[in-house]
Amino acid sequence: MNSIEKICIITGATSGIGKYTALRLAKEGWVVGIICRSEKSGKLTLQTILSACPTAKIDLFVCDLSSQSAIRSLSTSLCQKYKKIDALVHNAGLISPIRQLTVDGIELTFAVNHLAPFLLTSLLMPVLKAAPESKIVLVTSRAEELGRINFNDLQGEKKYNWARSYTQSKLANLLFAYELCEREKKNRVSVLALHPGLTQSKLGRNLNGICKYLPLVLNPFMQKPEKAATFLIDLLNLPYFSEPGYFIKNKIARSSQYSYDKDLRSKLWAISETLTQGTK
Ligand SMILES: NC(=O)c1ccc[n+]([C@@H]2O[C@H](COP(=O)([O-])OP(=O)(O)OC[C@H]3O[C@@H](n4cnc5c(N)ncnc54)[C@H](OP(=O)(O)O)[C@@H]3O)[C@@H](O)[C@H]2O)c1
Repeated sequence: MNSIEKICIITGATSGIGKYTALRLAKEGWVVGIICRSEKSGKLTLQTILSACPTAKIDLFVCDLSSQSAIRSLSTSLCQKYKKIDALVHNAGLISPIRQLTVDGIELTFAVNHLAPFLLTSLLMPVLKAAPESKIVLVTSRAEELGRINFNDLQGEKKYNWARSYTQSKLANLLFAYELCEREKKNRVSVLALHPGLTQSKLGRNLNGICKYLPLVLNPFMQKPEKAATFLIDLLNLPYFSEPGYFIKNKIARSSQYSYDKDLRSKLWAISETLTQGTK
């Protein structure tokens, strides 16, 4: 691998925003590592990208991000494959209509949307720091404005609600991004967060009851995933950013008041560390 080639790792590349971002990056000449939950859908994605861009330099890594041991194995494979990583995009995300537990006994939305980026980032930090200037992007959502971190019932054990769980996880993305930015500033690691805009994707596929019609109703007002991907690519092409940056589409923005709360940030960090059993 050529040392000046830029390497980007992107999670959740089998559909929606992640798939089109991976394709665009490949077309722009990046080496792209796609992280996909299953081998089958991963290979399909690989084929689609290679058909649209035969010169793509693309590697497939299979990882179910709901499993911490799978994330640790993924990190080992990535560190063996790449000496440096220029960009890490935490795009994978889900909405779970019912409360489900992961193999680690953690509520699924919290595990995939927040703990997975937390753990993977810390495991990959050595290779991120090995790049001259690296970038970490959290794909969050404006839904974070409705979110609260419910420390008394972080995993919806007492009362589960999919919207509460999703908005909490998207607020957690921002709290994590801002805290990480402060901690890694000295290492020239930019940490950015993006609300890509309402986008046609499979995100609402598991909704049930009346909510299952939501994607259908919203569809005409939603942009195509190709468009959302352009906002992600724009962030990756930005120069070094020493401050925490939150973008709504292609504009720098302010996130909710809660997301800037330093006590909330450090409390969530400490809990996340405990729930991922440290970062070793
Ligand atoms: N669509 C919107 O309007 C919108 C708005 C704001 C923010 N966002 C955010 O954008 C991001 C991408 O979502 P999308 O809209 O493109 O939805 P999507 O089409 O459902 O894509 C989600 C991706 O995440 C992957 N994923 C889910 N659970 C996983 C797991 N356990 N392990 C590995 N990968 C997993 C999915 O893989 P599988 O195919 O295997 O399920 C898929 O590739 C999410 O973080 C979402 O919160 C979306």
